[in-house]
Amino acid sequence: MHYPRYNTLKRTVTFSLFLFFAVSLSAAESADGKQLLMDSCSNCHQIDMPNKASLTLQEKINRKGPPLYFAGHKYQQAWLENWLQHPRRITPSGGNYWANAVVVTDEGDEIDENKLTAHIAVNQQQAIAITQYLLTLKPFPDLIREGEYTPGKVPRMLAAKDFRKFKGCVACHRDEEGFGGVTGPELYTAMKRLTPEYIASYIRNPTAWEPRSLMPNSHLNDAPIYKLMNYLNIIVEDLP
Ligand code: HEC
Ligand code: HEC
Repeated sequence: MHYPRYNTLKRTVTFSLFLFFAVSLSAAESADGKQLLMDSCSNCHQIDMPNKASLTLQEKINRKGPPLYFAGHKYQQAWLENWLQHPRRITPSGGNYWANAVVVTDEGDEIDENKLTAHIAVNQQQAIAITQYLLTLKPFPDLIREGEYTPGKVPRMLAAKDFRKFKGCVACHRDEEGFGGVTGPELYTAMKRLTPEYIASYIRNPTAWEPRSLMPNSHLNDAPIYKLMNYLNIIVEDLP
């Protein structure tokens, strides 16, 4: 009778110590997260909210990486923490839509790999701190409908045809590695990278997020949007 009781007590103590530690660390680190972003990332990424309405085309062209000022609506925490430590390409053309790494050939768009550089990586502690700060950035609550999407089933062949042929998403986005457009971010990882609410909202109205988005507004209602998301759920399962 004594043994289990001792064991439980010990676990409680260890657990609360751990909690205490976790909390005090995170308070110190979220301050660092912003500093790290300002020092190492703001050259290429917008961290502070710009005046969206007046974002000029030139400002967009000058951007080197995607904006991060609405990161809190956009990313899944686990993915972000991991990616910052082990970054890999998300947009085949490099993510800077205006540059230069895409060569148009008779065979279609090809990527000039020499023009693409590897993304900076940070260590685990920095990744946690940066993620913690980024996830506080939620300037557009009106664009997010919390919990709007419930995963549903859709036949794979039909869903692929919808994504590729009927909705034309594949012209700019890949739905499997090595297949599809190169100007938009790959979408076979979307359900791991992005929050479902952000995905739905982005498809609904790209320019609400990105005033100079290259993505056409397809004027889709909720049902076809969720159907596309059900497809994203199928293809994310293909990942190793
Ligand atoms: C030299 C410019 C440059 C610097 C410096 C840089 N990035 Fe990036 N970042 C990029 C580009 C370009 C992409 C797009 C890559 C892609 O889509 O494949 C990107 C992509 C990202 C993404 C994924 C964006 C998305 O939604 O697709 C995140 C998150 C990110 N960077 C965070 C950071 C953080 C944090 C730092 C600082 C530690 C940083 N970056 C420093 C250029 C940069
Ligand atoms: C003409 C090219 C084009 C087409 C067609 C297109 N997109 Fe996009 N999409 C983009 C680009 C480029 C981005 C990156 C941000 C931006 O500029 O809007 C994007 C961003 C996205 C995002 C946000 C992803 C992220 O990482 O931030 C989602 C989700 C998305 N598109 C889904 C779709 C779906 C679903 C379709 C089909 C209904 C579609 N797109 C059609 C070009 C396109």
